[in-house]
Amino acid sequence: MKTALGTVLITEDEIQRRIGEMGRQISADYADGIVTFVGILKGSFVFLADLIRSVSPEVHIEVDFMSVSSYGDATTTSGTVHIEKDLGISIEGKDVIIVEDIVDTGLTLLHVYNIFSARGARSLRVATLLEKPGNLKYNRPLDYVGFKIPNKFVVGFGLDYAQVYRNLPDIRVLDEI
Ligand code: IMP
Ligand code: MG
Repeated sequence: MKTALGTVLITEDEIQRRIGEMGRQISADYADGIVTFVGILKGSFVFLADLIRSVSPEVHIEVDFMSVSSYGDATTTSGTVHIEKDLGISIEGKDVIIVEDIVDTGLTLLHVYNIFSARGARSLRVATLLEKPGNLKYNRPLDYVGFKIPNKFVVGFGLDYAQVYRNLPDIRVLDEI
């Protein structure tokens, strides 16, 4: 498939403004608490870096990362998940925010949520920069959503196409040419 960078869907300024709002919301929700942010690699790392810096210093935070690949099919939610890189810390009894770049089918998120609840997290919430309309598999509310976007393939701000374009400061549509 031949591709080309298309129009800017969300500008750098819009992203930063929205992440600021999300950080303030998280700060209010976890005031004086401790939160463990878990970024799902690789796409979430740019968003996570900005999100944690918009959380108030009164909230003590931990950060870790996990990398998973899910092999599910479209009709079941029982597809297996392969953990490529696991957490280095225990999340038992902790208040966890799972950080995603984008939720599409929700299958990745469903798997991670199930793993973390089996490990005894005290609470589990989700922060995602982007949400596509196809979120069918993860049937809980997404707690912190940056932007709802149309069902187009987008890149930038951590999101890739074949590992390229993560460095773009804004979110752009990838066009087929
Ligand atoms: P889900 O399991 O279908 O929700 O897929 C989530 C993962 O698919 C994301 O973490 C991304 O890695 C990838 N993904 C889905 N849509 C896009 C997109 O538009 N651009 C880049 N990656 C995407
Ligand atoms: Mg991803």
